Amino acid sequence: MARSVPWLLIVTGGSRGLGAALVARARQSGHRVLALSRTAGDHDDDRVLDLARPETIAPALVPDLRAAAEHGFERIVLINNAAVLDPIGACSDPGAISRHMTVNLVAPIVASRLFIETLAQTAADKRIVLISSGAATRAIPGWSLYGAAKAGLDHFGRVLAEEQQTCDWPVDVVSISPGVIDTDMQASIRAASRRDFPQVEHFRELHRSGALRDPDAVAAAVLTGLARPERFHGQVVDLARFVG
Ligand SMILES: NC(=O)c1ccc[n+]([C@@H]2O[C@H](COP(=O)([O-])OP(=O)(O)OC[C@H]3O[C@@H](n4cnc5c(N)ncnc54)[C@H](OP(=O)(O)O)[C@@H]3O)[C@@H](O)[C@H]2O)c1
Repeated sequence: MARSVPWLLIVTGGSRGLGAALVARARQSGHRVLALSRTAGDHDDDRVLDLARPETIAPALVPDLRAAAEHGFERIVLINNAAVLDPIGACSDPGAISRHMTVNLVAPIVASRLFIETLAQTAADKRIVLISSGAATRAIPGWSLYGAAKAGLDHFGRVLAEEQQTCDWPVDVVSISPGVIDTDMQASIRAASRRDFPQVEHFRELHRSGALRDPDAVAAAVLTGLARPERFHGQVVDLARFVG
């Protein structure tokens, strides 16, 4: 259903999984959605962007943010959703480690900073969502990089929210832990070896028993939470708490 004053959502990793579900749901609701990923669909607002090259984020994002500042959107939301799991296991390859940390931590930091800078004087309700994970707080053997990046991202969000308290038009920041979702990321988890990922059998069982969440249901919950007036000021919340 179209709304008279829609939102603008910017979703990283909009091509698959949770990101694709968020993009589809939000567009169905009449919002404008910029979907950023390496493989773009054919929508005018799909953008090709490799987050492993964070210097390309500004040219891809800032012109749209400048235009959004003039447009009068009721709410402008950046959802830092894209992430990778690989490399799983003990990895000492500096290139692979660096790529992982760039996509999962550096890129969302760069995108969030550009969002804040470019919209500093825009009075719309502005929000940054960081998609987190239980791995940010649980030590899961084999996921040292993924857990470190998610923990770093959560803490970046806490500091960002604190900094925003003194701004004229502050951005609200929230980390959302979505729970286990039936996406390609889960398929690659199940395909890992026991040597690299000792808990692999647990995740295979989650899949067999139907415990994985439907990406569309998770996307609907995220958008429902975002529609609430409540602001989160750097909290890390489970999806259930975000919906209220
Ligand atoms: N699935 C779960 O059980 C689960 C649980 C907790 C948290 N999460 C979190 O939820 C979020 C979404 O996960 P998901 O399960 O939907 O993952 P997914 O199915 O693997 O999709 C990942 C998305 O990220 C994009 N992406 C990956 N590398 C990129 C790059 N270099 N540049 C641009 N985009 C890139 C992919 O697009 P392209 O390949 O087209 O670039 C894709 O759209 C992630 O933050 C993940 O950590 C997932």
